[in-house]
Amino acid sequence: MFTKETYISRRKKLAASVSGGILVFLGNNESPSNYPDNTYIFRQDSTFLYYFGLDKPGLAAVIDIDCGGEMIFGDDVDIDDIIWMGPQKSIADQAAEVGVGKTYPFARLSTFLAEALAKGRKLHCLPQYRADNLILMADILGCKPAEVNDGKSEEFIKAIVAQRLIKEPCEIEEIDRACDLGYAMHYTAMTLMQPGMLEQELVGAMEGVVISGGYMTSFPTILSQHGETLHNHMHDKPLTVGKLCVIDAGAEIASHYCSDFTRTLPVGGKFDSRQKDIYTIVSTANSFAAEMARPGITYREVHLAACRLMLQGLKNVGLVKGDIDEALALGVQGMFMPHGLGHNMGLDVHDMENLGEDYVGYDPGQERIRQLGLGSLRMARKLVPGHVITDEPGIYFIPALIEQWKAEDRFSDFINYAALESYYDFGGIRLEDDILITESGCRRLGQKRLPITVEEVEAAMAR
Ligand code: GLY
Ligand code: MN
Repeated sequence: MFTKETYISRRKKLAASVSGGILVFLGNNESPSNYPDNTYIFRQDSTFLYYFGLDKPGLAAVIDIDCGGEMIFGDDVDIDDIIWMGPQKSIADQAAEVGVGKTYPFARLSTFLAEALAKGRKLHCLPQYRADNLILMADILGCKPAEVNDGKSEEFIKAIVAQRLIKEPCEIEEIDRACDLGYAMHYTAMTLMQPGMLEQELVGAMEGVVISGGYMTSFPTILSQHGETLHNHMHDKPLTVGKLCVIDAGAEIASHYCSDFTRTLPVGGKFDSRQKDIYTIVSTANSFAAEMARPGITYREVHLAACRLMLQGLKNVGLVKGDIDEALALGVQGMFMPHGLGHNMGLDVHDMENLGEDYVGYDPGQERIRQLGLGSLRMARKLVPGHVITDEPGIYFIPALIEQWKAEDRFSDFINYAALESYYDFGGIRLEDDILITESGCRRLGQKRLPITVEEVEAAMAR
């Protein structure tokens, strides 16, 4: 938890940026896995954590802007809870630690909000993403759960996004720590990987590092020799010499700040010459994007420049042909990289995605471009100091997509479909670092950068 003053000043700034009414924050509850008492690991809502810091289930809070009041709702434990969970601080004591003076039993939240509605007061609500909170808000608002998010407050969302997008120094320290743990996680895989092991063994070793040194993974680990499937969670194959293994994994530390790194490793420890060629195009694009990323440029421009560089690289190896600028404008790159260059990261690995991707990643008036690849760009905004984003270019050979575009005769002036036939078993390559936009450019987060060049990766794997 940060200092009490940190939470007080965040709430003050937020309240000053919304015109009036009542801001509603729902914390998360325990979530059952296969029966009520067997729960998933508890994860607090990130907005609740950001403004109220309390990392416990069963809490909600409001800020009444019109009268300057702040309240936390939650129930004190009884003797039954103490028997199973041990002694717990009272809600009032917990609230005092984050500078909130008024607390009430949880049931008071519904009556408080219902009374406010009856008086015609404006309730500012956030989009809910958990079923229990949707049901709670539906009861309060008198609508169906499926209708709750129709009433989300854009003003509230935009005020939160504006604040949380620019990381404070205390947050950057935490993200650096999460990246250090993410480094250890990936370095473990690099040095442990041996042909014949199951992919799952590497996943287990990496996740062990995170659980020992932090809280949990920041998202389900992606580790596969079928890296052409962008989010491949199947880890059941034996590691086979000559294959490439995409490892996209992150750490979430106890404060819940995240890291998100991707490396692509050659099973057996050496890239073959074709792998080296494609790998070098992606690693060059990764570094080039970090060199370009600075205040004033949009991340969409950086995405497009990285794509241009990769198209040129693919042309050099004979997989793409024709005029590169024309190909870029048409979106030819979408076949090789059907995702965006990066996303915001912070308390969430895709920061604030629950509030709405476009509010987070797009400036007012900046439209998402509906093209394969660009359409998945989660961060397109003009960069400003304090943004924390990922830099994750990739090149993939997805047989079904190649076949589809070929059958449609799509971009056949630019794509060498005949040459691509021998790449159907190649897989994919993605290389991801996490960067902080600074006054003059950007810096990579974490003390050390994971090995990334062909030489660095081969040397680390030889250890
Ligand atoms: N690292 C997974 C993702 O960015 O979607
Ligand atoms: Mn990512």
